[in-house]
Amino acid sequence: MKSSIIWIFLLFALAIFNLAAAEPFSLMVGAGTTALIASLYGSYTYTKCLIYECCIPQWIDSNVTGMRAVMRESFYGQHLAQQTVPSAIQAHLSNEEPSKALVMSFHGWTGSGKNFLSKIIADHVYKKGIKSTYVNVFVATTHFPHKEQLSLYQDQLRSWIVGNLSACPHSLFIFDEVDKLPAKLLDTVKPFMDHYSEIHGVDPRKSIFLFLSNAGSEEIARRAWEYYDAGRPRESITLKEMEELLSMEAFNQGGLKSAELISNHMIDHFVPFFPLERRHVIECARDYLKTQSIRADSKMLEDIVELLPYFPKDNPVFSASGCRNVDKKADLIMQKDEDDYDKL
Ligand SMILES: *[C@@H]1O[C@H](CO)[C@@H](O)[C@H](O)[C@H]1NC(C)=O
Ligand SMILES: *[C@@H]1O[C@H](CO)[C@@H](O)[C@H](O)[C@H]1NC(C)=O
Repeated sequence: MKSSIIWIFLLFALAIFNLAAAEPFSLMVGAGTTALIASLYGSYTYTKCLIYECCIPQWIDSNVTGMRAVMRESFYGQHLAQQTVPSAIQAHLSNEEPSKALVMSFHGWTGSGKNFLSKIIADHVYKKGIKSTYVNVFVATTHFPHKEQLSLYQDQLRSWIVGNLSACPHSLFIFDEVDKLPAKLLDTVKPFMDHYSEIHGVDPRKSIFLFLSNAGSEEIARRAWEYYDAGRPRESITLKEMEELLSMEAFNQGGLKSAELISNHMIDHFVPFFPLERRHVIECARDYLKTQSIRADSKMLEDIVELLPYFPKDNPVFSASGCRNVDKKADLIMQKDEDDYDKL
């Protein structure tokens, strides 16, 4: 590797020398340069991949330790996601020959952290994070808005996935709003999540699929409420009881209706995202203010989370919007404080 960098420098030096020396001597050097240009071309891919993203370990360099740390520090109220997701990713990525793609289905209310966790994953698997060419995000209402165009979408999606996988087998596919996908669209994706070493000319087994949906969030919230009501910590809810609940009940809606995904065990992990409590939203507000270089006092934090809606009606302990919109409310409160200050 080092030697090819030296080669490239030599080449540049020679090329510049050659251009500058407009005399017969340059003819001699010219011949040498021609030979060297060939070798420069050989180094081209190498050089290109130093600057631009390529499907090589330098760019796909997973950092699961960092992923765990970030989840511990700034991802609130989701003990089951915390237990499951980093381990599943570590196991998948450290396996040279996985038998199938890693498929995880994230379920829960808006703002409970499904998108946030997807971003944390992308940021700790790819150097360029969520902006990586190898991270493909499909949003139901953006990419597939018209239910009647199913067959067009199926063809499109298949050719995208094939294209993406042939560009890089270590691709990450994130399907957002899965419950709003046209039913049966995911059947197109199914063979890519199966145990095939080759499908449409690509090997899908090293990739990762994430499905994000609200499906099952009622059941998840109900379970969280039952624990809360009984005075039991939510952290004692087990993955097993939630997986049973989710794999049975959550799939009467939209894209997940295609029961084959579930009955054929294509999904490796069902991950529930619980509705956040006020204390979790306070932490999100604190983190946001920190990004704005503001050390928050508890009065300010209370004022911010007070602006958000909570449920159930008779004992509103859960945030209806989770950590979403916390930034907007915080901006509002900061603005208000500033105005008050101006009035003094
Ligand atoms: C791993 O992730 C952590 C947390 O995001 C980050 O601080 C650290 O720099 C990362 N390490 C490497 C080698 O990229
Ligand atoms: C990969 O997927 C994206 C959608 O995320 C699509 O726009 C792109 O064309 C695909 N790439 C290839 C090479 O097919």
